[in-house]
Order: sequence, then C-alpha cells, then structure tokens
Amino acid sequence: MKIGILKEHKDGEKRVAISPKIAGQLIAKGFKILIEEGAGEASSYKNSDYTEIGVTVEARGVVFKEATILIKINPFDEEDLKLIDSHHILMSQLFHISNTKLIEAIAAKGATAFSMDAMPRITRAQDMDVLSSQNNLAGYKAVIKGAYEMTKIFPLMMTAAGTITPSRVLIYGIGVAGLQAIATAKRLGAVVEATDIRMETKEQAESLGAKFITVDNSGEQESEGGYAKEASEDYVKRQKEAVNNSLFKADLVITTAMVPGRKSPVLITKEQVKQMKNGAVIIDLAAAQGGNCEISEMNKAVVKHGVKIFGTTIAPESVSTNASDLYAKNMYNFLIHLTNDECEFKWELEEEITDGTLIVKNGKIRKS
Ligand code: NAI
Repeated sequence: MKIGILKEHKDGEKRVAISPKIAGQLIAKGFKILIEEGAGEASSYKNSDYTEIGVTVEARGVVFKEATILIKINPFDEEDLKLIDSHHILMSQLFHISNTKLIEAIAAKGATAFSMDAMPRITRAQDMDVLSSQNNLAGYKAVIKGAYEMTKIFPLMMTAAGTITPSRVLIYGIGVAGLQAIATAKRLGAVVEATDIRMETKEQAESLGAKFITVDNSGEQESEGGYAKEASEDYVKRQKEAVNNSLFKADLVITTAMVPGRKSPVLITKEQVKQMKNGAVIIDLAAAQGGNCEISEMNKAVVKHGVKIFGTTIAPESVSTNASDLYAKNMYNFLIHLTNDECEFKWELEEEITDGTLIVKNGKIRKS
C-alpha cells in the first residue's frame, strides 16, 4: 500500500502530516511512502531527511498518481480535487459538518475519505486524536504569545529597585488547550484562574494550581460525547457575573471555548472589554468559529479600549516541528489501527473508530 504525503498549501501553514521518523516506522511496517517535494521544509525537515530513510520524493502529480492513501493536515482543496480519483483513500482533518461542499466533491470523485477531527473521544482513540495533540501545543503557545505581547512579566520578582507583583491570567475553557495554558502560565509564575461549563474540569484545573471560578450551571446539559453542549443565555449571564471581577483584573486572558459544529459562544462582550485593564491582552483561540470575544477578528490584532485582542488559530503551526511530529504519530497509530499485517485496510465498518472517522466510502457519504 503506497502512502502519499502532500505539501500543505493553506496560508501560514508550516506543518507536514508525516515526519521522517514516523515515515521510517511506517516503512518498517511494510508501507511504501512518497512525499511531495519540499513538503517538510517549513517544519525543518529537508527532502534528504526523508530519502535517507527510504521515502521517495516526487513531484505533486506523481504522488497523486502513484499513492493510494493521501495524507494531509488541512482539508483537501480545489487544486487537490482536480487530481483525486476513485482509487484514493484520503486522510486529513475535513471538518465535515461545516464543509459539506468538500464532502460532496470528494464523493463525486468516487473516492474514500477519513476525517481526523471526527475521532471519537474514547480512551483507546486518545493516541490518534489530532485535535488533542495540536490543541495542547496551542495552549502552550497562546501563553507564550500573550507573554510576548504583555508589558509585564509573569512572576513575582523582588529586586533592589522594588517588588514586581505577579501577572494575573484568566482562562476560559479547560479542555486540552486550556489545561496546557494553565500549566504553562503557572510555570512562568502567574496567578492563574480558570472557568468551564463542565464541572469535572474543576479538579483538573486545581491540580495544576489554578483557582477554579465556579459558575452555577444548574439546568445546563454539560456535555455529549466528550464535547461541551451549547450554553444557555442564562448560563452566559451567570458566567459573566461570576467571572467579571477576575476578568477586569486580568493581565492576560486566554479563551478556548468551542462547541463542535457551532459558532463559538461569545463569553467576553465589547462592554466587558471596556472595563478591562489598560494594556491587558486577550488571546482568542476560538476565532476560527467566530471567537469567544465579540471584538476578535480572525488572524488579526485589534486594539480596543487599551486592550490588545488577538484572534488566532495558527498556534500549532508556529511550533511546526513538534506539531508535525505529534500529528504524524497520531496518523501512524490510526493507520496501524485500520490495517492488517499486510498493510491492507480491514474495513471494520461497525468498529467505533472506523465508523466515527470514515466520512465517505467509495463515493458514498456516510456522515454529514
Ligand atoms: P473543546 O476544544 O471542545 O472546548 C474547550 C473547552 O471549552 C471545553 O472544556 C468546554 O467544556 C469549554 N466550553 C465550551 N463552552 C463553554 C462555555 N460557554 N463556557 C465555558 N467553557 C466552555 O474541548 P477539548 O479540549 O477538545 O476537550 C474537551 C474534553 O474532552 C476534555 O475533558 C478532554 O480531556 C476530553 N478529550 C478526550 C479525548 C479522548 O478520550 N480520546 C480526546 C480529546 C479530548
């Protein structure tokens, strides 16, 4: 079975789906691997890093022609679709719920497609979960970006010239990104507070040294399949009352609250931003789905009422070497799970991981 690793074309993308180390492990399992020329360069991997371990470097057209499995990080785009046909098995994040046109186009080609972002949230799928591996890095990088943009340092510092009080960091959403943001901000010496609609996150936040801000969530359906459900208007109102005091004192705010397939909940309004500290920074990791801050704009820095607001999703790309390595390991585990010792697909359609991620099979849409 031949695997083709494609170069990413999305603006700002620096990751590659399979790193040389993982390519070597797949070859050892019996797969043959082709990579599009220069696909690893922005992640610090040269063509020669791949050829040394037995990968063939080819022009884009050859990879599409020869490989059966095509692997990417970002959804396949129009240029890819021109070269896709019915013998291909596609693997990437497809975000199929919001990308119906893409799914229909893949189906029209008669191809088969797995979506990595549709991985079920079950224990045995943890090592294949690309959202977790990438969001973990995003949480780390959000704190580093915030620290860079702030005009204050994080830790308490006693100097001959006076004492510097620690910065205050507030985190909305204690999922994978939020937990790593707490851990990173604590390591840098900040006073950290965090909140989440799911009460089970209280203990996790506290174990990392953050103060959990409890919001009365009675009447809310907390989660479904590991994901948060959309909060009611009443909950958002109660949340504002509980969190405002901390928000108005915060030096850095990181928002990570997302609800799959829906617009992100607005947790910080223009009115609240007005009351924040001059010089405060907001890093809104939910910007791609509308943002948790009403003022956020995707991939832009906006300064309003003295607060700097960054709407971003590019955090994993900015640590592309680590992000590529982790994505690649997720892909390795996924491929090994789906195939037998002869590297052929088992097609166990009832099995939870296969069923959850297989969006199109031989031109037939299974999930929408
Ligand atoms: P996410 O990216 O979907 O959302 C981030 C956080 O925002 C969540 O904790 C969510 O509860 C919170 N949130 C949503 N709406 C909110 C609101 N209105 N106010 C405050 N907070 C709000 O979540 P993520 O990072 O993907 O993780 C969610 C859970 O799933 C975690 O407990 C994680 O450990 C678990 N998980 C399990 C996996 C597995 O077992 N294979 C894989 C990935 C995550």
